Amino acid sequence: MRPNPRLGQLPTYPTVALDRVRDRLRAEGRPVYDFGTGDPTEPTPAFIREALRTSVPDNCRYPTVLGEPDVREAFAGYAQRRLGISLDPATEILPTAGSKEAVFHLPLLVIDPDAPDRGVIFPDPGYSVYYRGAVLAGGEPIPQRLSGDFVQRIWEMPDEVLRRTRMVWINTPHNPCGAVMSHEDLRRTWEVCQAHDILLVSDECYVDTWFDEPPPSILQVAREGVLAIFSLSKRSGMTGYRSGIVAGDPAVMRKLRELRANPGLAPQDFVNAAAAAAWADDDHAEERRHIFSAKRKILLDFLREAGLDVVASAASFYLWVRAPSGTTGMQYAEKLLEAGILTYPGASFAVTSAGDDYVRLALVPDVETCRQAVAAWRAIL
Ligand SMILES: Cc1ncc(COP(=O)(O)O)c(C=O)c1O
Repeated sequence: MRPNPRLGQLPTYPTVALDRVRDRLRAEGRPVYDFGTGDPTEPTPAFIREALRTSVPDNCRYPTVLGEPDVREAFAGYAQRRLGISLDPATEILPTAGSKEAVFHLPLLVIDPDAPDRGVIFPDPGYSVYYRGAVLAGGEPIPQRLSGDFVQRIWEMPDEVLRRTRMVWINTPHNPCGAVMSHEDLRRTWEVCQAHDILLVSDECYVDTWFDEPPPSILQVAREGVLAIFSLSKRSGMTGYRSGIVAGDPAVMRKLRELRANPGLAPQDFVNAAAAAAWADDDHAEERRHIFSAKRKILLDFLREAGLDVVASAASFYLWVRAPSGTTGMQYAEKLLEAGILTYPGASFAVTSAGDDYVRLALVPDVETCRQAVAAWRAIL
């Protein structure tokens, strides 16, 4: 076999080496405090599990791209309550098999690999699938380097770059930094995209993981030329169910339905039934916010006391911590691992050097384990 050369452009995560050390520590019977992968340990609420169980039919037929109306209607209800917007479940909402596959596939909607204007702009550091999806669709990946407050400001990109761009990714609240874009940031981003006929996609899978005030959504700003991505993974503790939503401009959504019919990308109906139950309820999302908030406080209090700089980190369940001066994020992650604390180096989220000085903590371990981790960290300060 002669493999697709574009596969060779996809870097292996530097976290592989760290994962090896973690496995060694575990094999030696030493405690490991895993703040690495963003996969929370709190159980999925019982009513959601029950909704899935009772929805498995005797004969499970092929799901359709649009899926049964329940999940789309439940999401429309959520959008009305949480964002104060009306979405048409028939034309403006589509369920996805987790949001990751939607992120990966979306460049196929707008990228012509033979055209000179095939740029895909994405935040860097950022969720690595923006880059990976752009490369494999034959687009030109254009990382927008973030620093300072780690808010992405598309209007700072040179005009010449915007002219060859077909798609812009924003991610608010942002992984790995936790930065939140304001309503005004979102409005300016949309205006720039409209002026250049660029599809604007806002990845909002952490929009319900907040601590002070609910972050705004791009859909509160505009719908034309816009898609927004949502997920139940973190909101409802459903990572393994694979359940996301794309919502937005009905004209773009029509094309997206056509595109998704080709590989037959559609969640199973019983997953959609569980998703409908999850989107219809806000109490469990609130409970989860309290849990993440408690863990966050334990970590933040300690990090401040230790003189470590926590940057951005306003929402999402990530803390973006600057490594002590003279140390790279990678070196600091290795040092922490010797105390059993697994973090991910900022470099693993960036294609430029924008993440080099940082480590990311995902607030995954339970409250008690967070306390133990803080004690272990304090001991190596
Ligand atoms: C920014 C961002 N987008 C999308 C995803 C994918 O989430 P899922 O596929 O679980 O919905 C993740 C997962 O960590 C993420 O961090």
